[in-house]
Amino acid sequence: MQPQALLSAAREAQKMAYAPYSGYRVGAALCTTQGEIFTGANIENASFSMTICAERVAVFRAVMAGEREFEALAVTSSGSGGVTPCGACLQVLAEFAPGLKVFTEDANGECIEYGLKDLLPCAFSLQAE
Ligand code: THU
Repeated sequence: MQPQALLSAAREAQKMAYAPYSGYRVGAALCTTQGEIFTGANIENASFSMTICAERVAVFRAVMAGEREFEALAVTSSGSGGVTPCGACLQVLAEFAPGLKVFTEDANGECIEYGLKDLLPCAFSLQAE
């Protein structure tokens, strides 16, 4: 999957954002290892902490469709700078795809690629007794 194609899917998803409180619209597109794309947008709530980020909407949609193997995520926002997934979303992504590639755009619209491991080097993992 080309980064630009995935970023374009994220931009399309961003149109579905429901962000009346922050005005900050985010779109995400998650690509499976088979090349299927699942998208998400942030959905805010009057009870602010109930808000869900675009990235988690995309992951949860994919998992509910039976997908658990992911290759890359693209994320875009209406902000002027670049956007990277928040810590909560990184942890959720790490559950399924620790080796995930993360594409985003800088303030000039240039694609930047990160590894999920760069963004969250020490993801929590549950070591049960
Ligand atoms: N947001 C996302 O959708 N993804 C992120 O990774 C960071 C933040 C949303 C949540 C909220 O609706 C708005 O951006 C401002 O925090």
